[in-house]
Amino acid sequence: MNSDTFKPAIVITGASAGIGRAMALSERRERGVAVLVARSPSELNAVANEIRQAGGDALTFELDLLSADAPARLSDFLSGHGLACDVLVNSAGYGLRGKTAALPIEDQLGIVDVNIRALAALTLHFLPGMVARGRGGVINLGSVAGFLPGPYMSAYYASKAFVRSFSNALHEELRHEGVTVTCVAPGPVRTKFLEKAGARRAALFRFLPKTDADFVADRAWRGFRLKRRLVVPGMSAKLTVLAASLVPSAVMLPLVGRLQRKRK
Ligand SMILES: NC(=O)c1ccc[n+]([C@@H]2O[C@H](COP(=O)([O-])OP(=O)(O)OC[C@H]3O[C@@H](n4cnc5c(N)ncnc54)[C@H](OP(=O)(O)O)[C@@H]3O)[C@@H](O)[C@H]2O)c1
Repeated sequence: MNSDTFKPAIVITGASAGIGRAMALSERRERGVAVLVARSPSELNAVANEIRQAGGDALTFELDLLSADAPARLSDFLSGHGLACDVLVNSAGYGLRGKTAALPIEDQLGIVDVNIRALAALTLHFLPGMVARGRGGVINLGSVAGFLPGPYMSAYYASKAFVRSFSNALHEELRHEGVTVTCVAPGPVRTKFLEKAGARRAALFRFLPKTDADFVADRAWRGFRLKRRLVVPGMSAKLTVLAASLVPSAVMLPLVGRLQRKRK
């Protein structure tokens, strides 16, 4: 698509709820058409209507990121509307708390498929266009969980380590080409995420302070505009990242394990 004629889209996965929804609602309207992606059509339509009422332009696309052809289908949807992905926000994701050997295998592999495979596939699919146009970029939702292993949430923490490493490397590769890749690493956020993960009552998440999705979205967009490699929103998340780098694994792993296993 010719860079003079392309119509920019801000593609946001996980836009039906939580952080993705907040990212969609707080995005600057002048950047282009918001393309909202998730599995829940009524929630997506509600977000799209809010954007339209605020004077923005939004389209919804119902898509299960577990399906292997998700990037191709999304790409076809964009081309069909004369759009090119200018900014990609990968917010869709989920976690599971419990004994790794006892949690359902398919659900744990689903974490790998959504949090890693789909995020990487969409990024790889849309990056060449961004590089050719010399603008735009990717915001990937990582987590403070990406800075340490997480006993009793092992697949989730490992998936976020991938997001962090992949995003950091891409940031370095692309920062002189006009394309920004930013990893956002929040601590616990007040969304349905912890409840869906079966982690809401784990001691760790009762103990750590929680931030709001709106705050995370605001910091994410600001960091992206400033071309930051990493955004860690809030003091508590920053301290968690610092602790993960200073406290030896021999101390940190049993501590996280105990706090994540224990329910209050
Ligand atoms: N909340 C936290 O404490 C926290 C902390 C750090 C990082 N994060 C990360 O932030 C991101 C957003 O989390 P959140 O708190 O906003 O969670 P959330 O409120 O549970 O929202 C998750 C979003 O992902 C979408 N999604 C899940 N599976 C999908 C699939 N197979 N196909 C398409 N969409 C799918 C959901 O949409 P549908 O169900 O409609 O498909 C929903 O829009 C995640 O990557 C999470 O790991 C969250």
